Amino acid sequence: MAEDKVIITYAGKSTECPVIIGTEQEPAMDIANLRDDTGLVTLDFGYKNTGATKSAITFLDGELGILRYRGYDIADLAEKSNFVEVAYLLLYGELPTAPQLADFTSKLQANSDVPAEIATILKAMPKSTHPMAQLAAATLALSGVYAKDSAKATEETIINILAKFPVLVAMVMRNTQGLDFVPNDKSLGYVENFMNMAFGKQASQVIVDAMDKLLILHADHEQNCSTSTVRMAGSSNANVYASVSAGISALWGPLHGGANQAVLEQLEAIEADGGDTAKFVAMAKDKASGFRLMGFGHRVYKNFDPRARIIKKACDEVLNDLGVQDKKLTIAMELEQAALNDSYFVDRKLYPNVDFYSGIIYKAIGFPTDMFTPLFALGRLPGWVAQWKEMKENKEPIGRPRQIFTGATLRPYKEVENR
Ligand code: CMC
Repeated sequence: MAEDKVIITYAGKSTECPVIIGTEQEPAMDIANLRDDTGLVTLDFGYKNTGATKSAITFLDGELGILRYRGYDIADLAEKSNFVEVAYLLLYGELPTAPQLADFTSKLQANSDVPAEIATILKAMPKSTHPMAQLAAATLALSGVYAKDSAKATEETIINILAKFPVLVAMVMRNTQGLDFVPNDKSLGYVENFMNMAFGKQASQVIVDAMDKLLILHADHEQNCSTSTVRMAGSSNANVYASVSAGISALWGPLHGGANQAVLEQLEAIEADGGDTAKFVAMAKDKASGFRLMGFGHRVYKNFDPRARIIKKACDEVLNDLGVQDKKLTIAMELEQAALNDSYFVDRKLYPNVDFYSGIIYKAIGFPTDMFTPLFALGRLPGWVAQWKEMKENKEPIGRPRQIFTGATLRPYKEVENR
């Protein structure tokens, strides 16, 4: 739908950029002919103004705090749906009918066994290997066993990675703790089986429900760092396991998914230091300190993170239900209040994000801190695969940005004795 155009003129040459309007009325100018017509390329560090694709999966409005998967509000899905249903929705665009959901669920169960070689690979890794590195390696290793057609978005490929991933995450957790793997139980539900394999016992319904909600809240987030990485890797025709493995690596960093581990470590550090939140808020405001309050701020949410609101409520419920009294939660509340009332944070629109509360729930459930980011990956998997599938179906070209070269221009090579 081109409703208007932008004309760019440079050095006597000009180009017409059609304005594309999305279904939520967001305008974009299409610069496909910019370089050919004018010789210009664009420069946009961090892609703050650059749409990398057209997508029909997730809509978010950072100013209004809106997040929707395929048109459904995240709060509705978190309250009424379940993770497997949301995965289907993200992948296929519609909520499943009862027979579709039953079929999808049984295919996930039937394909969940992970080959023995993967267990051997995990066991062979150095004991100090972070679970995210183990997960990236194990996911990539699946391409050794299921290579056939795995660069195509076939149903078999999609089911295979979705079915095996929770088993891999649970195996990684056991491996990191030096514990034996728990056999995969194909009679259990997706989340129930994951919890059973991770802890060696069935989780209570309250915990399963909380996990389900957390996974739904993490399931997709449009073109974020890891998802863009998955699409970029997949655009070269890399197979789904390689593409998702690349996404796991991108998610690991503390500015992205790794923030949930960093939040809890920061709360622990504040607690160990005596719990003076004002001191840490002051440090976060002092640029020279290089310290940031983890779990605050977001590239796109500049009002509130709708996921954080839902998680905060779930967090209260889980802690009440488990009877957990955690000083870190008090510290977290104090930090939140201090930040919400401080002009540094208010002026920069820095609010608690999804990772601020999720770690507290994971900790109360009993997950080790270094497993928090793999849990984010478990939630994000359907989003990654849906975005990878969409990229394939759109027949998008290989991702290959331009650059502005700022290095040396041509200079003659000098023999070492003449330098
Ligand atoms: N603590 C203190 N100051 C901050 C923080 C923070 N957590 N976040 C941003 N700022 C300041 C930053 O110093 C800058 O100040 P100034 O304008 O004076 O130079 C301003 O706020 C804008 O920050 P930015 O780094 O330019 O913003 P960005 O959009 O590039 O980065 C962010 C977004 C999430 C990486 C950043 O806010 C951050 O590092 N937060 C902490 C890490 C975190 O919680 N990450 C999880 C994000 S949610 C999970 C996910 O979806 O990945």
